[in-house]
Amino acid sequence: MSPPGGERRLLIRDLAQLATPAGTLAPLRGGPLGEVDVLRDAYILCSGGSIEAVGLMRGLERVQGDVQEVDGRGLCAIPGLVDCHTHASFAGDRVEEFALRAAGASYQELHAAGGGIMATVRATRAAGEAALEEAVRKHRSWMLQAGTTTFESKSGYGLDRDTELASLRAIRAAGGVPTWLGAHAVPPEFPDGDSYLDFALGEVLPAAAELAEAADVFVERGAFDLVQARRYLEACCQAGLALRLHGDQFTELGAVELAIELEARSVDHLEATGAAGVAALARSEVAAVLLPASALFLARPMPPARALVDAGAIVALATDFNPGSAFCESLPVVCSLAATQLKLSPAESLSACTVNAAHVLGRSEQLGRLAAGYAADVVLLDAPDWRYLAYHLGGQVVASVILQGVPAALG
Ligand code: NIG
Ligand code: FE
Repeated sequence: MSPPGGERRLLIRDLAQLATPAGTLAPLRGGPLGEVDVLRDAYILCSGGSIEAVGLMRGLERVQGDVQEVDGRGLCAIPGLVDCHTHASFAGDRVEEFALRAAGASYQELHAAGGGIMATVRATRAAGEAALEEAVRKHRSWMLQAGTTTFESKSGYGLDRDTELASLRAIRAAGGVPTWLGAHAVPPEFPDGDSYLDFALGEVLPAAAELAEAADVFVERGAFDLVQARRYLEACCQAGLALRLHGDQFTELGAVELAIELEARSVDHLEATGAAGVAALARSEVAAVLLPASALFLARPMPPARALVDAGAIVALATDFNPGSAFCESLPVVCSLAATQLKLSPAESLSACTVNAAHVLGRSEQLGRLAAGYAADVVLLDAPDWRYLAYHLGGQVVASVILQGVPAALG
């Protein structure tokens, strides 16, 4: 093989296994979600940030030109993981609240008492843009160490103009895909959700729409009701943003139906979703983003993952990384929870946090597979079988990460 443009290439050789979601379709539903191609004794050739070829070692021709080699012996390659739902732009922590919850306090009680999300809003507003940028970079490096090569992050801990916009800029600066979560909670300087939305849509949306790719709203008692969510999402859609919803986390308030009606990209959480919601999602183009680390962290019921996949819904998995409900940046841990709690196979989990997560971010043509033409984002697992991704619960399963064809410095 000779170099296409003369640039330096990267050859990952002698891989124990290469595992990638089968085919080229996206998003994946039903049976195909669980179809993963596995090559044994394989290579990946990368050039110019993309995958040039993958195949079996015995079919590899001599690679000419300037090529850096990576020894893949004893390692398994999977596509770089895509985390399509995080809240990485925050300052401070909620460790005190975590201890209170361990002693019996509930997440919703803490929120109602002015803690919870508002505690992080106070810390984030006080931090300043430079500290916020530093925080997102730190969170990004934790995610990379866990094999996440593309991350979405929401704002939503500013809830004033300056801090929301600073959050979106910090996410972009760290290489993330920014979502404006302008409707996360009603900050105390506003008497109610309607007057807060007057401000957010009038004063913040025009600038947020220049920085973000999508908008998100928390539909829940104590946050935003369905009428407010509709108003917020319709205005954001008008401004050119894709739509996402936090729905059915604690209460089924109709977020699924609203998401379908407004042709949202996704509705996320779904721990409280019943049979009608599952059936409606299965008939729709809206992705169900499941966040089992959040359900575990809050000791809440798990979302109906098996029913959603079996009914044919588009299912993606994400961490929900945030300081309150899911202080967990690891998609491998999420895959372990998917296998043990949601009864998804390792193959379904892999597709859900690669191809389908990339679809939620509008990037499924570039991301989520190890195949020629896709971005050269690769995770090398320190394992004899790629399914250790889900099997090795909380283990150091990621040996190294290749980002756009270049070995990444972890840590
Ligand atoms: O997705 N539910 C709303 N928002 C976040 C949690 C935010 C927080 O607790 O700080 C979530 O779980
Ligand atoms: Fe969330």
